[in-house]
Amino acid sequence: MAKLIIVIFGASGDLTKRKLMPALYSLFYTKRLNDDFAILGASRTTYSDESYREYINKEMYHFLDKSLQDKEKIDEFIAHLYYKSMDPAEENQYASLKDKIDTLGGAHFNGNILYYLSTPPVLYGKIPLYLRSVGLNTKESRIIVEKPFGYNLESALALNKIYENVFDEHQIYRIDHFLGKETAQNLLAFRFANGVFEPLWNRNYIDYIEVTAVENLGIGDRGGFYDKVGALRDMVQNHLIQLVALAAMEPPAIFNADTFRNEIVKVYDSLKPLTEIDFNDHIVRGQYTAGHYKIGYREEKGIPEDSRTETYIAMRLEIGNWRWSGVPFYIRTGKQMPTKVTEIVVHFRETPHQMFHCSKGNCPKANKLILRLQPNEGIVLSLGLKVPGSGFQIKNVTMAFDYNQLGGIPMGDAYARLIDDCIQNDPTLFTRSDAVEASWRFFDPILNYWQKHPEAPLYGYPAGTWGPLESEDMMHYHHAEWTNPCKNLTDTDKYCEL
Ligand SMILES: NC(=O)c1ccc[n+]([C@@H]2O[C@H](COP(=O)([O-])OP(=O)(O)OC[C@H]3O[C@@H](n4cnc5c(N)ncnc54)[C@H](OP(=O)(O)O)[C@@H]3O)[C@@H](O)[C@H]2O)c1
Repeated sequence: MAKLIIVIFGASGDLTKRKLMPALYSLFYTKRLNDDFAILGASRTTYSDESYREYINKEMYHFLDKSLQDKEKIDEFIAHLYYKSMDPAEENQYASLKDKIDTLGGAHFNGNILYYLSTPPVLYGKIPLYLRSVGLNTKESRIIVEKPFGYNLESALALNKIYENVFDEHQIYRIDHFLGKETAQNLLAFRFANGVFEPLWNRNYIDYIEVTAVENLGIGDRGGFYDKVGALRDMVQNHLIQLVALAAMEPPAIFNADTFRNEIVKVYDSLKPLTEIDFNDHIVRGQYTAGHYKIGYREEKGIPEDSRTETYIAMRLEIGNWRWSGVPFYIRTGKQMPTKVTEIVVHFRETPHQMFHCSKGNCPKANKLILRLQPNEGIVLSLGLKVPGSGFQIKNVTMAFDYNQLGGIPMGDAYARLIDDCIQNDPTLFTRSDAVEASWRFFDPILNYWQKHPEAPLYGYPAGTWGPLESEDMMHYHHAEWTNPCKNLTDTDKYCEL
């Protein structure tokens, strides 16, 4: 009999096969899951327990890291899978879900259930209510909800209300897989386990900070979904703002779920609200057009030919507190960019007086610190050093640390880490209700403005380029510029000239 039952709604979907099953298997493989668990897939597609096992077994070999592909172990894992054909949008189907859970748990089951909502977001408001209607919101249960949590402030508030009425906050796990990445967590270690940068980590020494999370793919088959969402909802309101918070937060006196998340919320609450006057100066929205042998966004499957959904967004944010007043945070995300990269670039101020001059095309430059979250996870510090030989020619060089150097341990999977945390009842790396609301509170006026003013600028950029030129203009008044990493971030070409 199972002591832990993991119920996945949307179990026939893309996320389940690509991420959730491989993550659960890796927990099983590394003995983070004991033998007494059951995974119950629940969605409308018709499978029996047996045919669902066959389906997942096949997909495992597509999506599981090669180093974890151990046939015997996969077979053992698959034997823990069960399936319930049901429509999660239909309340009357939950009684039979409860029967199946009761059968899997047996007479002594204490209600230790982990629900994973991997369905389209329209169901996020229904499933908890229907679980409650049959008493499946047990005291021991937890619920993981995928992003996006809400579509705007109003819907996020409404969703939070529903969840609060069904579960206690400590049972609700709003997942943002960025926080599950080792490199995101290492940003905290880098800042708070070392004393050397803290004295510099403020407006006195930092000129500006960039946060970039871009990819070199378009929207693929997700046109119908993406066109209703756009880059601000898909990436900025959750992932990018989380990274801003990690870079900007104060160190909590002690590290636990409450104190850590309190500091995140303080950053969101300190974001200087943008007014309508700021919208055109501080925000650049873009949409990719045909380029580099790729089709434009409006030619993609499922996209209306007059769509004004943004596939790129760059913004200038300011945090109104003592540490950061006057330091711009430039954030950007985009599809069909030249490469896929997520990184934070900290630009330190120039030396107060520069006694070395430009020579043979080399000029002393301000130091940059790059914290790269993916790919080629690492940290790079740029320094000006003297070129050997006569005179004083200063060249910019890099001092690089590669995360692979940490003992050759493979980078953990973000989903595995986060599901494990949830099983262990540790919500530290999940988004709390007040953080979701604070973030929406900041971004909502922008979405409302675009809705009211469809004529607000939306700039085209050819697929395969670094976005609209207007995003560069946005930074010029601060004499800032984007750090565009190498086009192809291969192992041998980790960091290009800074
Ligand atoms: N895929 C990713 O990489 C990714 C990344 C981050 C977040 N997410 C989020 O995770 C969630 C799941 O993503 P996904 O890509 O797996 O989604 P998906 O494939 O579109 O949907 C998952 C499953 O939900 C069921 N479903 C679809 N429409 C439904 C409806 N109207 N009523 C009831 N069930 C419905 C379908 O199963 P049946 O037809 O069998 O019921 C489908 O297989 C989404 O909210 C997405 O935003 C996904």
